[in-house]
Amino acid sequence: MPFYHKLGNIPHKRHIQFRKPDGSLYYEQLFGTIGFDGMSTNSYHEQRPTQVKEIKKQYSVAPKIALKNNLKSYRLKGFQVKPENDFLESRKTVLINSDCAIILAAPKQSTENYFYKNTDADELIFIHKGTGKLRTMLGNLDFKYGDYLLVPRGIIYKIDFDTEDNRLFIVESRRPIYTPKRYRNWFGQLLEHSPFCERDIRQPQELETYNESGEFLIKVKKQDDIIEMVYASHPFDVIGYDGYNYPYAFSIHDFEPITGRIHQPPPVHQTFETDAFVVCSFVPRLYDYHPQSIPAPYNHSNIDSDEVLYYVDGDFMSRNDVDAGHISLHPAGIPHGPHPGAAERSIGKTKTDELAVMVDTFKPLMVTEEAMKIADDSYHKSWLE
Ligand SMILES: [Fe+2]
Repeated sequence: MPFYHKLGNIPHKRHIQFRKPDGSLYYEQLFGTIGFDGMSTNSYHEQRPTQVKEIKKQYSVAPKIALKNNLKSYRLKGFQVKPENDFLESRKTVLINSDCAIILAAPKQSTENYFYKNTDADELIFIHKGTGKLRTMLGNLDFKYGDYLLVPRGIIYKIDFDTEDNRLFIVESRRPIYTPKRYRNWFGQLLEHSPFCERDIRQPQELETYNESGEFLIKVKKQDDIIEMVYASHPFDVIGYDGYNYPYAFSIHDFEPITGRIHQPPPVHQTFETDAFVVCSFVPRLYDYHPQSIPAPYNHSNIDSDEVLYYVDGDFMSRNDVDAGHISLHPAGIPHGPHPGAAERSIGKTKTDELAVMVDTFKPLMVTEEAMKIADDSYHKSWLE
């Protein structure tokens, strides 16, 4: 996150002696990104963060591809993804390219016996259903419906749920996920025309520190394999840190919509960006107020980006027969637009209560076998009168 955060105890200078009450040194770790050019965090550990005890298993979790070169629009019925006890096993990749993976998950249980670390990708976890606490080596974040949780790559975490009924929409990104650059000044501060500001971004305030030795299993994701590594010290043993690289939360309900007299283009909904895709939040808002405006979107041909819309809540004005938890995939190369009747139906409406998350990828997405299990195979013909 491009603003500074400090939590716990740290010495007054970097890379100097910082001692425990018993006189021994704390173990400093610089946790950087993009070599030494990206955002970094400087953390202080009770024990060496390097104590690998054993490497147990390594297995692939690469999704099976059903359609490599796809030009067909799809509707995926996301809530048909079956709930599973384990957080990692519950994650079903439905769409993927070399930059990102789009995942649906309905985990029933908190992660109990292991920690998780994704070294491939930043994870953007959107909470559709469920409440709980994301617990990380750099502090905890409480979450609820509508929260985006951004976990930068390499952050060791666990996730605790309060109940069994949880639904997550996750984007794994091999490119760093940032807030849109056009909303930031040259110091990184979010500008007045940004639809959200620093006050809307929740940083970790609660740091769990365990000075424990033993056997601690971390499931590490690398190159689409899970590698089970046992460490000799508790992964949450940080007594303090500062820097710019840490997990944070942002609620979609804190996104302030930008509206206009005529239809506003999708970039006004943009919430996050990478150099490979963008994430937009469609939130309840007033409709366009030109006397002859058509609130429904026009047909559009996203010739060089695949469009994924995840429907969260409310009434979806431009589509017929779309429910919460559905995903629509409109692939690059062919036009799409409102369903028959939707444009006329939208005229005269003054507001919408729709809530949706959109991911537009610049490279085409492949459709996985998990997606085909929940796919509506006739959706691509749904524009016929
Ligand atoms: Fe679209």
